[in-house]
Amino acid sequence: MNEKKELAVEARDLCKIVRDATGSLTILDGINVSINAGETVAIVGASGSGKSTLLGLLAGLDVPTSGVVKIFGNDLFALDEDGRAALRAEKVGFVFQSFQLLPHLDALENVLLPMELTGRSPDDMGPVDAARALLQRVGLGERLSHYPKYLSGGEQQRVALARAFVLRPPLLLADEPTGSLDAATGEAVIDLMFALNRERGSTLLLVTHDPDIARRCGRQIELHAGRVVQPAIARMTH
Ligand SMILES: Nc1ncnc2c1ncn2[C@@H]1O[C@H](COP(=O)(O)OP(=O)(O)OP(=O)(O)O)[C@@H](O)[C@H]1O
Ligand SMILES: [Mg+2]
Repeated sequence: MNEKKELAVEARDLCKIVRDATGSLTILDGINVSINAGETVAIVGASGSGKSTLLGLLAGLDVPTSGVVKIFGNDLFALDEDGRAALRAEKVGFVFQSFQLLPHLDALENVLLPMELTGRSPDDMGPVDAARALLQRVGLGERLSHYPKYLSGGEQQRVALARAFVLRPPLLLADEPTGSLDAATGEAVIDLMFALNRERGSTLLLVTHDPDIARRCGRQIELHAGRVVQPAIARMTH
């Protein structure tokens, strides 16, 4: 066995520069992060500091201007789009800042989707049982056949979480997963994420503006204007 800890995520010199009307805008400016398998990490920083852009690159949903991302050792941008999609389907669950549910599918069908796309389901359960069990766990057992437009924002977010979790991905990326939830529901959702981290050893990387959630993570990565800065607590003690 390899004694070295496996890296779930490795980003090297990651840059994202976009062109706009006034010239070019640097959104990410040389990001380096390494996250061990099983870690829980919060990405924090002011609005506009590049958190969502970074998460999108780590998921391979967007392409960097330069730099490397490795997911469990696989060089994401050495793969073509199909290869990235296959890696994502196998390894990564993603919860977006906006929920991105499919409007013509009901709650249960939205959660079934990753299993239908990959032809896989959890080892111990069939797809429908797995989807139903997870929707029950996020408190939506009575909303299985509701379409997204008949669900509240918080309910839609919980369906999105169930969809991201259902294949029990070893890496879960979540962009402000509790942003639109009330305190109690948000706490239940976060508890579920940490429970999955404990039960499955899955790696959790979440963007949050909530200091209490950030503190529950093993460590924090703070962005400022597209760069990684030392967290305030480290700055105070050094
Ligand atoms: N495709 C794009 N073209 C131009 N500017 C962009 C693009 N994508 C992001 N930006 C800009 O890059 C900056 C970082 O955006 P990003 O969404 O990553 O911020 P964030 O840290 O997630 O903010 P928030 O906390 O508000 O969600 C913002 O100023 C945003 O306007
Ligand atoms: Mg964001």
